Amino acid sequence: MSRRSPLRMPSLMPGLLLVLLCSSVAGAQTQSVDAKGHPWWQHAVFYEIYPRSFADSNNDGVGDLEGISSKMSYLHELGVDAIWIAPCYPSPQVDFGYDVADYRNIDPMYGNLADFDHMVAEGRKHRVRVILDFVPNHTSDQHPWFQDSKSSRTASHRDWYIWRDGKAPGQPPNNWISGFGGTAWTLDPTTNQYFYHIFYTQQPDLNWRNPAVEQVMLDTTRWWYKRGVSGFRLDAVDTLFEDPALHDNPVLPGTNKQGDPNMQDKNNKNFPEVHEVLRKLRKVADESGAVLIGETWTSNVAELDRYYGEDGNELQMPMDFMFTTVNKLSPPEFRRQIAAVDGTHGWPVFVIGNHDLVRSYNRYGDGKNNDAIAKLMGAFYLTLRGTPVMYYGEEIGMENNDPTRKEEVKDPIGRTGWPEEKGRDGERTPMQWNTAPNAGFSKRGPWLPVPPSYRTHNVASESKDTNSVLSLYRKVLALRHTNEALLEGSYTALNEDDPNVMSYLRSYKGKGVLVALNMSAAPQKAIFHLSQQGFGRAMPKALIASPAASVKGNEVTLEPFGLLIAEVNQ
Ligand code: NOJ
Repeated sequence: MSRRSPLRMPSLMPGLLLVLLCSSVAGAQTQSVDAKGHPWWQHAVFYEIYPRSFADSNNDGVGDLEGISSKMSYLHELGVDAIWIAPCYPSPQVDFGYDVADYRNIDPMYGNLADFDHMVAEGRKHRVRVILDFVPNHTSDQHPWFQDSKSSRTASHRDWYIWRDGKAPGQPPNNWISGFGGTAWTLDPTTNQYFYHIFYTQQPDLNWRNPAVEQVMLDTTRWWYKRGVSGFRLDAVDTLFEDPALHDNPVLPGTNKQGDPNMQDKNNKNFPEVHEVLRKLRKVADESGAVLIGETWTSNVAELDRYYGEDGNELQMPMDFMFTTVNKLSPPEFRRQIAAVDGTHGWPVFVIGNHDLVRSYNRYGDGKNNDAIAKLMGAFYLTLRGTPVMYYGEEIGMENNDPTRKEEVKDPIGRTGWPEEKGRDGERTPMQWNTAPNAGFSKRGPWLPVPPSYRTHNVASESKDTNSVLSLYRKVLALRHTNEALLEGSYTALNEDDPNVMSYLRSYKGKGVLVALNMSAAPQKAIFHLSQQGFGRAMPKALIASPAASVKGNEVTLEPFGLLIAEVNQ
């Protein structure tokens, strides 16, 4: 059983805090705490938008910022409070925006800075904040800094990147490999030295040991806060520093999907210096009441915990990706993971999908009951104690649409790793708005094909169906915005020996919400004795339930993959 106090702020202080902390820096949306003393992001629902694929206002086949602006009322009505937009800066698009050529502008394919300002203004009107993606580890090889850096060994930006001589003629400086396949070093003929890139060759790593790099990056975040950005999702934070002596990484048995030897990333990831940088980024974020979300792949909870910072002075929202590695409907594994994250000293952040992961619809789906399972997963992670980060299209049960031929692949990983690794195109397809051609995303052939499921799984059709995935998401999101037990309550695992029904209680000041989720393909019953939790005589009263779920006294009956969210009061 895992219990956790919902509030970390001294309880007598909310009113005072409200007065002290509500700052109003021009541009930024900066009300720092709500009436109960929570920073805004703790009660917010975040939603990731892959801008190439959300809405295409100019019908060129690629989404854009005006497209996003036009969907703000959809987002607000769905229950979204903040959107995180994957990189929309000028970029050659080798890694679809994660190769930035200018950190302070918008790629013309998405619009311009005026469109950006308009999007922020539309967001404000609909109470949807804008979070940008910040890529601190590397730039595009087309960035003027790198162009200068490679021009000569004495160029003013030479030391902004990591240049080294090869070990011997034709041999890179060490054995480090790129996440996208092959060696992490590329020889540049102009100066006959290698530069380091943990991702694609066109994404050279910045040298964070150079104070000028740090300064310009900190200033860049401040520049965007002044423009109205409410925070950043920080890309690949664990990769910022490397061993300056460039020791080889230990080689492990076997090969990865790209055919490279498996390696322990001992000398090019997770350096303690990362935390110093995070503290500095946080200081700047705090000037505007902004939030920092981390792309924090960790192998254990202690590592995740460190990202909050010892005094809570690093990332407010490091994402728990260990949750996404539970790739089956396993109550015991979910219980273990939730309890571990609930026990960290920060606020949990739950995610089930993003632009790098096979869609949750497919990862958890069994091929026959995918809609029921999509609803189950939504009812699950959106009612946990913590902040959820949704992925666009998850709310309508969008599925992966993987390429079937190498020639179709757009993602660099899919091109280097084919056929073992098909890349990430499948989870990045256009948002399915309606049954019009191209799912209403664009009037022109979109950059990635729309899967046939758009005919049934789209916003327009599902809005009319009270039993759709979208209707379930809307109900759950509405509840989590208004129900005090869901907003403020502790998390307590229930019936922990039950291998099929995942259940828990969220409770706050005598008010409770019981969640029971049948993660099996057989009907299940679960009996709840809530006296230990102080809800002895309370009988659950259904608030949201799957079609055949029922509650009688303290016994809940659930159909295969059925769900029940019920109110219990003392
Ligand atoms: C993580 C991003 O999520 C991914 O899409 C990208 O390819 C790498 N970082 C490199 O920036």
